[in-house]
Amino acid sequence: MTAKTLPVDPFDLVIFGGTGDLALRKLLPGLLRRYADGQIREDSRIIGVARDKQTDADYRAKVGEALQRVAGNDEALKAKLPAFLDKLGYHALDATKDEGWEEFAAALKAQGDRIRVFYLSTSPSLFVNLCDRLRAHGLNGGQSRVVIEKPIGHDLASATVINDAVGSAFAESQIFRIDHYLGKETVQNLLALRFANILFEPLWNANHIDHVQITVAETVGLEKRATYYDTSGALRDMVQNHLLQLLCMVAMEPPAALEADAVRDEKLKVLRSLRPITADEISHMTVRGQYRAGAVNGMAVPGYLDELGREDSRTETFVALKAEVDNWRWAGVPFYLRTGKRLPERVSEIVIAFKQIPHSIFEHGAGPVMGNKLVLRLQPDEGVKLWLMIKDPGPGGLRLQHVPLDMSFAEAFGVHQPEAYERLLMDVVRGNPTLFMRRDEVEAAWKWIDPILGAWENQRETPKPYTAGSWGPSAAVALVERDGRTWHEDTV
Ligand code: BG6
Repeated sequence: MTAKTLPVDPFDLVIFGGTGDLALRKLLPGLLRRYADGQIREDSRIIGVARDKQTDADYRAKVGEALQRVAGNDEALKAKLPAFLDKLGYHALDATKDEGWEEFAAALKAQGDRIRVFYLSTSPSLFVNLCDRLRAHGLNGGQSRVVIEKPIGHDLASATVINDAVGSAFAESQIFRIDHYLGKETVQNLLALRFANILFEPLWNANHIDHVQITVAETVGLEKRATYYDTSGALRDMVQNHLLQLLCMVAMEPPAALEADAVRDEKLKVLRSLRPITADEISHMTVRGQYRAGAVNGMAVPGYLDELGREDSRTETFVALKAEVDNWRWAGVPFYLRTGKRLPERVSEIVIAFKQIPHSIFEHGAGPVMGNKLVLRLQPDEGVKLWLMIKDPGPGGLRLQHVPLDMSFAEAFGVHQPEAYERLLMDVVRGNPTLFMRRDEVEAAWKWIDPILGAWENQRETPKPYTAGSWGPSAAVALVERDGRTWHEDTV
């Protein structure tokens, strides 16, 4: 079975940072897949922009090489690759210099009024320059849209500067702040589970839910991103955006309709209801860690400081924290978040842990009655598991078992799950911002994060060490165990 896709209107997509890692690893492969699926029309164009001088042919050859690797043994993708590469062009431009911009603008305008997407896949330090130039050359009107990648600032003040600069060139409705976690299939499925079924919503509150866990674990380390990562750390890199966005999708009230602003209004209310973590609470509400040498998937790996080539970094590669949403629905329900690099496996999941039954009618010998859990697996093996108590099958008395009702999307539907970027890029072309962050959301998230960063800074403690290949510092286990809970394991 193949996914059903509707072709989008023809467009020009300009990727600033067109030779960069994100373009070659995610954006162009995603576009190739959409093209191979028939979603991108033949008269669309993709234009890579970067500073170095090269011809269209050079660029196509470079992208072609990267996409060959992506296509691997996929014959359908390989067959479409030459025609896809034909749609690619290249412009050498420097965001800080005038040279070449006139010609670039003229070439785009020659296509008439069509959808133009400017993807700023560059260092955020260039966002202001790029937006100024796009405006100065009249490329911000009509059906133009701009996509910006995180990090949108490193705190509220710097995020405001970026948002102001982008906002002075483009209207909010033209700005697409991408958080690729919102494009993941399971995240969208959360909307379907919550709002297309009658079963869950009546239970989706503090009366029935004991706590929520959100884990985004990675096995990778610094991945040649030392300069960026060491000035960021896990709280800014992952929690401020991806994990808080997931929390919003779990905690938000039902929007009146699946419309961009209706959804984003509800997410914003959640962000604004997050109880601030004060400096006094920082030690028992948050844990920060940094990996030491160890082994991941049987491979020895160096520690963070060795990878970085410095001895004095206090950047965290792991965070666990307890967040609370101060509103009627969620009063008293902790949201435990954790994310880290060099953990034992790559897994992202959301666990909704329901409360215990109020009274057990079963004898002691039946075994413990465990709380129900709804586990949404974002990656790998996207799917949903609902953990239930059942009777152990067969004779021998009534013994209870905790088992998952398991729905793996790939197995159940046999469909290739599109990568997050594929879906989001097509949403930009369609002009649908539902799965993108609005300015006020980004700023509300920073407003909650800033005091945590400030308290860590004042504490001047070094992050707690953890061995690469472990689940982070033991303090992260203590964070939930102090509350009489444990991190979810698939076998429990
Ligand atoms: C990015 C972070 O936003 O997300 C990276 O900057 C991280 O540090 C990545 O590795 C994780 O994305 P995914 O889709 O691989 O889980």
